[in-house]
Amino acid sequence: MRIVVLGGGPGGYVAAIRAAQLGAEVTIIEKNKIGGTCLNIGCVPTKVLLHTAEMIENLNCAEDIGIKFDKFTFDWDRVMNRKIEVVNQLVDGVKGLLISNNIEIIIGLGEFNTDKSIIITNGEECGKIIEFDACIIAVGSESSIIPIKGINLEGVVTSEEALSFKEIPGKMLIIGGGVIGSEFAEIYSAFGSKVTIVEMADSILPMIDKEIVSITREKLLSKNIQIMESARVLEIYKKDSLIVKVEFEDEIIEVDADKVLVAAGRKANTDSIKFEKIGIKSNRGMINVDTNMRTNLKNIYAVGDCNGGIMLAHVASAEGIVAVENIMNIKSEIDFKTIPSTIYTKPEIASVGMDEAEAIKKGLKVNVGRFPLMANGKSLIMGEEGLVKIVAERETEEILGVQIIGPRATDIIAEGALAIRLEATVNELITTIHAHPTVSESVMEAATNVFGHAIHLPR
Ligand code: FAD
Ligand code: NAI
Repeated sequence: MRIVVLGGGPGGYVAAIRAAQLGAEVTIIEKNKIGGTCLNIGCVPTKVLLHTAEMIENLNCAEDIGIKFDKFTFDWDRVMNRKIEVVNQLVDGVKGLLISNNIEIIIGLGEFNTDKSIIITNGEECGKIIEFDACIIAVGSESSIIPIKGINLEGVVTSEEALSFKEIPGKMLIIGGGVIGSEFAEIYSAFGSKVTIVEMADSILPMIDKEIVSITREKLLSKNIQIMESARVLEIYKKDSLIVKVEFEDEIIEVDADKVLVAAGRKANTDSIKFEKIGIKSNRGMINVDTNMRTNLKNIYAVGDCNGGIMLAHVASAEGIVAVENIMNIKSEIDFKTIPSTIYTKPEIASVGMDEAEAIKKGLKVNVGRFPLMANGKSLIMGEEGLVKIVAERETEEILGVQIIGPRATDIIAEGALAIRLEATVNELITTIHAHPTVSESVMEAATNVFGHAIHLPR
């Protein structure tokens, strides 16, 4: 079986490795850098900066835990260099994995030539035609640009440029209070920028449980981040700095900023592959697929951000594996209800499955167990706060969803995903013994509190 993978991000490179493991002859074509958005300009560099931002926030509170020092400062060039070092190490690691799996790597832009071949249209291998039995499209996504006056002005940037600023902006306005907007607000406010978020919906992070978001909002406000919700950017123009005209609470407000970050969603990056030429069906550029990740052509699959599903690295990788296994005649599907979503604000947010509002909307009768982290020993030791919520079906007591805001939420959520995967009941979670003192104990306590029996809460 000859498989060609188009795109070297977490969808593409994981698919390529799995295909090689299963005995296929594999070529991966990447127009830019192996690792894709995730490793080069997404998950990894943002989390490097968020890690430093978190350390700065911790240092700001160091006196609370008995550490005294005169003053600390930071070295932006070193922060940027460390980001590059971590990215390069991971990218080199992935390249090494591809090579050790005997996968051919072609650096060049690929487009469909026929439904059995790809042609390379730039770079050293320009003109080369690569034939395949099966192809996996994994070309990812790019930032959506919103149609407002001034969007092309210098200083109005996407997340990619915001990861490589030469210096820390004094004032930064972020259009979009979603995941990227919230994480960048966290980064630049820690480094001293005055950050304003302008969100069109009635809440930042509109897809997250309201009770959880209210904790995040409070935290962001306490960091001096200004939040305008139900607000609309009308235009951007330039004076000495950028001026952003915002309609907010029936007024037109002008906010000045050194940089404006547009973080208003992402769109499939499929223009370059000329998929229409061979009759692949799509919806506004997003390639249509079935649950096996197969397009309307039986030998062509599409995984990750480009197929219009959930735009997360772990989803892209899981879809890559599903596509390959189906190509190699192994039945394989994704259990979408086990996909965790994680946001690296401080405190972190993580969720899996349904939240209470979603379950009610679906007509389900649920019980919800809550456990505030102020009653959790480890969180108190760490000087952190937060909340765990468990949503369970009332009759069967099956766990339908877990939402966490607090330290290590993004790691702990794996337990919730496993519980949902195993269709675990609340009682099964309660009777799983959790180590002490850990933040994870609060998941068990929240489960106990579905029945109102949490040990560490007053009656
Ligand atoms: P990509 O990673 O975008 O890879 C696609 C690759 O295809 C690219 O390398 C591109 O150059 C290449 N390509 C495109 N067209 C062609 C062509 N014609 N020929 C050859 N190659 C081509 N997700 C998380 O799960 N956790 C996070 O913490 C997280 N943080 C993020 C932070 C930011 C700032 C951003 C922007 C995204 C973040 N994401 C995160 C989302 C995550 O990066 C994507 O969901 C993930 O990278 C999608 O993987 P993919 O393989 O589908 O596409
Ligand atoms: P998003 O969909 O999370 O948020 C976009 C926000 O912008 C929404 O709240 C939306 O209401 C708002 N918006 C849209 N148009 C607007 C306008 N004109 N004015 C003001 N607000 C507007 O998209 P985002 O943040 O761009 O991220 C894209 C994707 O990248 C995410 O959906 C996520 O899948 C992925 N990502 C994941 C991360 C993680 O897992 N930690 C981190 C960063 C990105």
